[in-house]
Amino acid sequence: MGCTIIGCGKALPALEIANDDLTALVDTSDEWITTRTGIKTRRICVDETNVDLAERAARAALGWDEGGFNERRIDPEEIDLIVYSTATPDVMVPTCAALLRRRLGLSNAVAFDMNAACTGFIYGLGIAESMMAASAAGAAGASGRNAFRRALVVGGERLTRITNWEDRNTCVLFGDGAGAAVVEWSDERAGILATYLRNDDDTDNALTCPTAFDAPQPFDAQGVSLEAAQAADPGLARIDAELGVTEAVEAGRPRQTLYMHGQKVFKFAVEAMGRAVDEVLERAGLTIEDVSFIVPHQANERIIKYAAKRMKLPLDRFQISIAHRGNSSSACIPMTLSDAYDAGRIHPGDKVVLVGFGGGFTSGAVLYEA
Ligand code: COA
Repeated sequence: MGCTIIGCGKALPALEIANDDLTALVDTSDEWITTRTGIKTRRICVDETNVDLAERAARAALGWDEGGFNERRIDPEEIDLIVYSTATPDVMVPTCAALLRRRLGLSNAVAFDMNAACTGFIYGLGIAESMMAASAAGAAGASGRNAFRRALVVGGERLTRITNWEDRNTCVLFGDGAGAAVVEWSDERAGILATYLRNDDDTDNALTCPTAFDAPQPFDAQGVSLEAAQAADPGLARIDAELGVTEAVEAGRPRQTLYMHGQKVFKFAVEAMGRAVDEVLERAGLTIEDVSFIVPHQANERIIKYAAKRMKLPLDRFQISIAHRGNSSSACIPMTLSDAYDAGRIHPGDKVVLVGFGGGFTSGAVLYEA
């Protein structure tokens, strides 16, 4: 009995930008990017939105369009939950999940967005699984709660909209995309065997993206003030100081772009991936020898290689899809999972680990039986 992945799909924007193309923007080279990250090209939204990509990914995952993995076609009314992970929503209200629900006609679904940075899809699966398990435990519908039996879990990002295209330390790393999975509560199959979600404080502000909601606010501490509407937001100044970006913002760097200390994130990432895999296996009472396949977050090929070494696992047990995508945050894991299914690398009964890490710092893993 458990929550099983029964469909998976992905979607990418049309424009593909190669490393060499980026030399028109920053002082970099194909050689540097390839050897330091494993990335050759990335996809970038021009007229596609986050929800456009999610819609295509979801249609493939539901078995409505070609190109996904499906155990069966899902009817719209069968989906009762949409969990949409994104750090880059097209708009704040309505949520991306609500837009997706409307476009797909999933009229029975409760739909919401959540953000756990690049670990978002792992958190999203964890949330969906917990809601479905609570629902099943409460004899679906008789517990005073909503009943959840089938969920669409999405990771969708338009990360290149928060990328600083003048910063070579970050801009070569990111791309856009969306991935989606259909999960179903099954009385017969084990499905998800364990989940592990974790937060550590990013004490050095190694990965940040301050927001800038900037509708004029005509108030000061005394009340209405038309002058205050023209002044800088004192709250934003405090949060900039807390995040250590004051100098950069004052020097004219766009506030709403990613700031990253690569080496600190790298170190955290290798440790976090290894720990999350160890912990999720312990929770399931299994060992690494029991695992058939690992689908990791795709931030840097070298991070995956270090993590594989730490786990003493050959690289061919990992799906590596970074070369033509780069890092698309919470979309990476569901898209990479979709690649693994497309390539026939996941078989019924296999024990598969999905593992990720990201800003916050968040990290986590999901172990499931295919
Ligand atoms: N092209 C050319 N040179 C570059 C460059 C680029 N795109 N980006 C950085 N450099 C330079 C740096 O300026 C530095 O030069 P210096 O030695 O003259 O100061 C040099 O390359 C080495 O920089 P460093 O930051 O030490 O490189 P690195 O080997 O750590 O690789 C990252 C940088 C970002 C690829 C790597 O740290 C990384 O992948 N970190 C984790 C990122 C991540 O996972 N982010 C998302 C989390 S979800």
